[in-house]
Amino acid sequence: MFPLRRNRRLRQNEVIRGLVRETIITPNDFLVPLFVVEGKGVKEEIASMPNYYRFSLDLLEQEVKTLWDLGLKAVLLFVKAPNNLKDNKGTEALNPNGLMQRAIKTVKNICPDMLVITDVALDPYSSYGHDGIVENGKIINDATVDILAKMSISHAEAGANFVAPSDMMDGRILSIREALDDDNFIDTGIMSYSAKYASAFYGPFRDALDSAPADLKNVPKDKKTYQMDFANRFEAIRETEMDIDEGADIVMLKPGLCYLDIVRDIKNEVEVPIAVYQVSGEYAMLKAAAEKGWLDHDAVMLEQITAIKRAGADIIASYFAKDVVKLIS
Ligand code: PBG
Repeated sequence: MFPLRRNRRLRQNEVIRGLVRETIITPNDFLVPLFVVEGKGVKEEIASMPNYYRFSLDLLEQEVKTLWDLGLKAVLLFVKAPNNLKDNKGTEALNPNGLMQRAIKTVKNICPDMLVITDVALDPYSSYGHDGIVENGKIINDATVDILAKMSISHAEAGANFVAPSDMMDGRILSIREALDDDNFIDTGIMSYSAKYASAFYGPFRDALDSAPADLKNVPKDKKTYQMDFANRFEAIRETEMDIDEGADIVMLKPGLCYLDIVRDIKNEVEVPIAVYQVSGEYAMLKAAAEKGWLDHDAVMLEQITAIKRAGADIIASYFAKDVVKLIS
């Protein structure tokens, strides 16, 4: 008898394919990134991220309700700080009445059970567009970590459930955990961007927040002295294990699609939940190709999200979250 095994029996129709499917996407898989701006009645489309918007706080309320009704119950907050409030030390990040702090309260007020995760890094507040303090052409690690710990407390005070340090300074998870515990925020979690690569895929995000590194003498043009070299693999595991030792509850890897080998490596090594961030450039690429009619938007989107989960992601941060959930419900 030829052939002895016929694998196509399990692919004959959608029912049998459904029965043997190994990876299922649900609304529980997602974190939804949200961009917040000052103002009233503002919903501005981000030029390099079609159909993705910055919201002022009043319109953020409606968006949060929509997400909740779709079953999307966790948001990742980012703010676009006004230019006149930016400085080298990110002073505005600690303002108890700053945009981030008000955004946290707005979300919690309108939807108390929405899980609020906040971005902790200096770049949206930095006049130089860096995730840390710049001195003599360098990003200063330890002084930056002090500010990140204070920033985390400030977000916890405003009501954040988790803080998500995305800066890649050394030792920041331990400092943040100690600071939170000292102030009795024992239930505030840390989702660490543990393995964050220096990637050109962050371009549209920097457009969204106007946070690209400044083109100035004595200011590094890129983030390669703190974000990871994309040629490296073992370093990602080392970074992730260190963050877990320092107290990270959830670890994150980013970007997504080009790094799925690393997702699997980390999944095989560690036992805490792993989040993967499908970043702005990944979103922009598919939108552009679909706009030209070169790719089937929804089909490619589902294939990509499923691939990220199949690789080992327990949680996916994605600008496609809403589109995916509408498609699968
Ligand atoms: C900054 C930060 C970045 C992203 C998340 N947090 C950009 C950067 O590191 O320059 C990128 C997210 C995306 O591209 O979608 N701390």
